[in-house]
Amino acid sequence: MKEIVKILRYNPQVDEKPYYQEFEYEYREGMTLLDVLNYIYEKVDPTLSYSYCCRNGHCGLCGVTVNGKAVLACKTPASPNSVIEPLKNIGIVKDLVIDRDEYERKLPKLRLFLERQWGPDYEPEKIGMVEFEKFKVASRCVQCLCCVSVCPEYRKNPHLFDGPMAYVLEARHYYDPRDELNRSIIFFNSQGIERCTECGLCSKVCVHKVDPAGIIKSIKNANK
Ligand code: SF4
Ligand code: SF4
Ligand code: FES
Repeated sequence: MKEIVKILRYNPQVDEKPYYQEFEYEYREGMTLLDVLNYIYEKVDPTLSYSYCCRNGHCGLCGVTVNGKAVLACKTPASPNSVIEPLKNIGIVKDLVIDRDEYERKLPKLRLFLERQWGPDYEPEKIGMVEFEKFKVASRCVQCLCCVSVCPEYRKNPHLFDGPMAYVLEARHYYDPRDELNRSIIFFNSQGIERCTECGLCSKVCVHKVDPAGIIKSIKNANK
């Protein structure tokens, strides 16, 4: 069965502005959006640019906006007459490829590694179940940037507010009882976490149920 998909195209080297292009593809039962993009690239237009690697929700590279919703293309079923656009709030390299470097430039200042001067007093080192559970949930983040693309506060103030993904990555270390850095200072002094309005949009789009809004709220409450 033939279906139609509309894709926002943009090559900053040659196009004055983005434009929509329609493609026809052969629909198969169980097809994902990533299968549709692969079909178009392989059989219709090899100039189409998009990103992916794992095909299974783990690499975080295939985020796109479909019919206005931020999703992972490899985990989203294809549906008739979809409109596919790049993730929002982030610059475009070409077509559906976003400029991940633009966001990732924020990350080195966050010291996203275990900060610890001394080793444990005894081994194996024990970590409480409550802290471990919080650490585990934050560690599910695959850095897909879907949450950043829907965050209204990041859209307004990208230089004053680091966005939900950065807070989730920092939270992994904040919840890790082995970490010795005062991460509250980073959250509040350089990341602008207090600007989060707790609208919850970031949590709604997270495929891995990380709940960035819940994590941000609990950090804000713990530091009141
Ligand atoms: S918190 Fe969820 S939506 Fe945000 S980057 Fe991580 S996996 Fe993606
Ligand atoms: S809850 Fe906060 S971080 Fe999440 S989308 Fe809303 S303003 Fe952004
Ligand atoms: S291809 Fe890796 S998350 Fe979709």
